[in-house]
Amino acid sequence: MFISECLKLNEQNHLEIGGCDTLALAAEYGTPLYVMDEGLIKKYAKIYTDAITKYYHGNGMILYASKAFCTVYMAKLIKACGLGLDVVSGGELYTALKADFPTDKIYFHGNNKTMEELKLAIDNRVGRIVVDNLFELDMLDALAQEAGIVQDILFRIKPGIDAHTHDFVMTGQIDSKFGVALETGEAFNIIAYANKLLNVKVVGVHCHIGSQIFDLAPFTEAARVMMHFIGDLKDKLNLEIEELNLGGGFGIKYIDEHDPVAYDCYIASVSEVVKNEAILRGVKLPKILMEPGRSIVAPAGITLYTVGAVKEIPSIRKYVSVDGGMCDNPRYMMYQSPYDAVLANKANAPKTELVTIAGKCCESGDLIQKDILMPKIAVGDTLAVLATGAYNYSMSSNYNRIPRPAVVMVENGQSKVIVKRESYEDILKNDL
Ligand code: LLP
Repeated sequence: MFISECLKLNEQNHLEIGGCDTLALAAEYGTPLYVMDEGLIKKYAKIYTDAITKYYHGNGMILYASKAFCTVYMAKLIKACGLGLDVVSGGELYTALKADFPTDKIYFHGNNKTMEELKLAIDNRVGRIVVDNLFELDMLDALAQEAGIVQDILFRIKPGIDAHTHDFVMTGQIDSKFGVALETGEAFNIIAYANKLLNVKVVGVHCHIGSQIFDLAPFTEAARVMMHFIGDLKDKLNLEIEELNLGGGFGIKYIDEHDPVAYDCYIASVSEVVKNEAILRGVKLPKILMEPGRSIVAPAGITLYTVGAVKEIPSIRKYVSVDGGMCDNPRYMMYQSPYDAVLANKANAPKTELVTIAGKCCESGDLIQKDILMPKIAVGDTLAVLATGAYNYSMSSNYNRIPRPAVVMVENGQSKVIVKRESYEDILKNDL
């Protein structure tokens, strides 16, 4: 009945998540509130890790892309699930370190890593650094030399794949700020150069073609293109690539019309291509890495709001305002992302009217969803926006000095706060 499998209708006709009544959660912890189902996160992590075992003889690792939702608790959970971690900044890396995440399973990404960030990574013996450009490569080699180590690296490659998704989350094409291009020879040249440096070791190549992608074809095509490149590196440089990291980007169901591919199909399909291409190109089978973020956490999350002002502009639009908005979920504003919503206190009521869910920020574009079919909504109702587990908390802000909501984790009818609600004092804490 609901888009995410962790959601249910209970006997009071309230929305339930992870066995917890959302009305009780709203009453106990207040709104707005992020709620995440831990059981579902573990289930999805396991689907991915099992698929690597089943389709690629376990010769690989799933890295959780922590940008989707990054907290100390989440990093500990991912560690317990046995996945590796993709971090993209000093802050994400620091969070992982605070969670005692095994640093050899951390992959450090980013198109403009600073010297301080690279030092933090080297000092903590981060397993792999995914190098984006020549400037970074030289800086890294010098820092590794100072530290007296040889750093294992991958290169971020633009494979020239056009994935059909929103322009802002499309990254595999040549006109992208990320990585080095294949078709111009840039990727080959930088690897040839790195291969001669003394304090970095090229162990792999990486690509990420975009996010919220529903087709298998761009992923299998990326795998094929990358395997060709691995063949070229062997033929021309006698360089044997050990790791092929194919990024993340697997689509999820935000609304009924979305029809995502089963998560293990991605692994099954690319494994097939990699195995075939390895034979064709005469290269050894690389270890496969994949970096799902959204697909592990988004369906597990919801955001609970309390409905405030309801404003009907005759023959134009009905605005239903909630006590959060672009500050806790900027995704409609940034990408016009579709979302489904449920009236948590009347979760089985028929959807009869078209409304626009607006936030409380001083910005006309501050909408959670425009023209969405909902049951009749009244002041004081509790509204649940679904599938908000990824890129909501992690992209939240204090715009208008609005404190960030708490994050509550639920499982089997139990709930616990994993991130405290911010106070006004928290917002002022760096003000001098
Ligand atoms: N690996 C790399 C190198 C990435 O850049 C990303 C996402 C991922 C993995 C994970 O992709 P996922 O499986 O989560 O799609 N803020 C946007 C999404 C930006 C994604 C950035 N990179 C949104 O809210 O849709």
